[in-house]
Amino acid sequence: MNPEPGSDAGDPDAAHAGPAPIEVRGLVKRYGELTAVAGVDLTVRSGDVYGYLGPNGAGKTTSLRMMLGLIRPTEGSVRLFGRDPQVSVRALEGVAGFVEAPTFYPYLSARRNLEMLAAYDGFGASGRIDDALETVELTSRERDRVGGFSHGMRQRLGIAASLLRDPKLLLLDEPATGLDPAGMRDMRLLIRRLADQGMTVLLSSHLLTEVEDVCNRVAIVRSGRIVYEGEIATLKRGASSLYRLQTTDDERALAVCRAQSGIADARTDEHGRITFAAEEGAVGLLSQALVESGALIVAMAPQTVTLEDLFFSFTEGDGAAPPPPAAPPSTGHDAPAPEPAR
Ligand SMILES: Nc1ncnc2c1ncn2[C@@H]1O[C@H](COP(=O)(O)OP(=O)(O)OP(=O)(O)O)[C@@H](O)[C@H]1O
Ligand SMILES: [Mg+2]
Repeated sequence: MNPEPGSDAGDPDAAHAGPAPIEVRGLVKRYGELTAVAGVDLTVRSGDVYGYLGPNGAGKTTSLRMMLGLIRPTEGSVRLFGRDPQVSVRALEGVAGFVEAPTFYPYLSARRNLEMLAAYDGFGASGRIDDALETVELTSRERDRVGGFSHGMRQRLGIAASLLRDPKLLLLDEPATGLDPAGMRDMRLLIRRLADQGMTVLLSSHLLTEVEDVCNRVAIVRSGRIVYEGEIATLKRGASSLYRLQTTDDERALAVCRAQSGIADARTDEHGRITFAAEEGAVGLLSQALVESGALIVAMAPQTVTLEDLFFSFTEGDGAAPPPPAAPPSTGHDAPAPEPAR
């Protein structure tokens, strides 16, 4: 279902949450022959830390530029709290962020840069400088010239600059990319702190593993299209619930798997082996059904599929094969099963 922008249909929290912080429908951006964004639909709900994930060139930055009203979509719509950033800059009230990398005057201090931005922003922004520097842990370096800052410090200063606008929604383009492991951890902690203060955050990344601990929901984008959108918990369950099966009669066993309730995505992999997704409880019943069918189990083993494997299965290859992950079947949660790459 694709509710109209601004519609509350399908969102259980909508009644008290008002319009979603971000609603993107059918978003397309073409540059001549090249389609950078090929029809993106996504909804970021209030309180989400939403990961917008994809490899280099997938269309993340282009999407964020459209969300921030920096470029005009070829087709489709963006609504920020129900308002269209193409129609009015008022749509950007309460919204802040950066694309690619935040930019500063290198020969001025961190504080002076923020003072200049605050003077431009107005609306009490200058009164938030101390807090913003404190939040991103740059108070001790506020008098130093930004030209001497490390990459991680600049990224944090970029977030401080965003905080001057007192945002309810932050859009951050690859805030952790290029940071060392400690820098990444600090960035995750910072984003977590902001979310705990009630901010909704969308951040892009080219690594699922980089954001898995901080995001509750993710969209995975490949060649300008969303190939998965949903709870990160669902992806994780999908990663840990895949099995490989070998029997005395694999053809019959595959049919049994497909007919068995609680077993999902049963198929033969590229090595001719049966794979399926299931919760543990369903596996016991499956083994009973297999025996009754006459297909005797030779081997049945849980597969070790890491989130990284899962991410690559969504974003690599020729797009023809369905990705291996599957949401565990019929467990009552409402997140969609991953769609095959198109
Ligand atoms: N202004 C532009 N003119 C022409 N092509 C563009 C322009 N901006 C982006 N593109 C193209 O659109 C595609 C998506 O680019 P985009 O920068 O959105 O990807 P990305 O997911 O942010 O990649 P990265 O991880 O490298 O930052 C690329 O093929 C890029 O070359
Ligand atoms: Mg980019």
